[in-house]
Amino acid sequence: MNVPAHIAIIMDGNGRWAKEKGMVRLKGHQAGMESLREIVRACSDKGVKVLTVYAFSTENWKRPIEEVSGIFSLLVRYVAKELKELNANNVQIRMLGDIDPLPADAKKAAQKAVDSTKDNTGLIFCIAINYGGRAEIVRAARLLAKQAAEGQLDPASIDEAMFASQLYTADLPDPDLIIRTGGEMRLSNFLTWQSAYSELYVTDTYWPDFTPDKLQEAIDVFNGRDRRYGGIKA
Ligand code: FPP
Repeated sequence: MNVPAHIAIIMDGNGRWAKEKGMVRLKGHQAGMESLREIVRACSDKGVKVLTVYAFSTENWKRPIEEVSGIFSLLVRYVAKELKELNANNVQIRMLGDIDPLPADAKKAAQKAVDSTKDNTGLIFCIAINYGGRAEIVRAARLLAKQAAEGQLDPASIDEAMFASQLYTADLPDPDLIIRTGGEMRLSNFLTWQSAYSELYVTDTYWPDFTPDKLQEAIDVFNGRDRRYGGIKA
């Protein structure tokens, strides 16, 4: 059985999980952090090369301030609690997105996680935070336009590979499998460029209930898919 090289996850359903239990939404995100810990471990054990999770989108700023700051506090807590084990497991952490506008403690934690794991050679664990697929594409266009305006780049030489090299995921393979928990059938501005040929797997399971066994179910379904990339069956 193949293990997808790059698995990306939209960790949805935390709020509904909490509501159904009569708890505040933040309790759902807290429980979601526990799921995340298990899934990172499972991906590491299975030999997945890259795991990307959608922790906070450029649109999530619209949520109530308590929830927004609660999610950033969870990032601080996650790094404080998990960094040692992540390092012991040779996990390299990366942030996809613009971490500049994050609260100071969250930005510091994000930077610490990236810096202290940068030489690790195991699972590459990308946390998409203040990330939006369209914002990422606009940023890449701007970077190329700047080089062109400065006379360092001939616009005619821009191709897909060059464009991809300006994305946060520059040196990473595109996601083979995108999992969305919580049942919604959409990508919500996640990995807009990179998802062109990703296999999609949506489960009704809320993220806090998503276990390593459920991850294996998703991988099994992925292994039954016929990936043609626009071609025809051999
Ligand atoms: C979407 O569920 C989830 C989020 C916007 C936050 C995800 C964050 C975590 C799982 C924990 C934080 C971990 C780190 C490393 C920061 P939702 O709130 O939209 O759920 P709903 O659709 O049921 O309302």
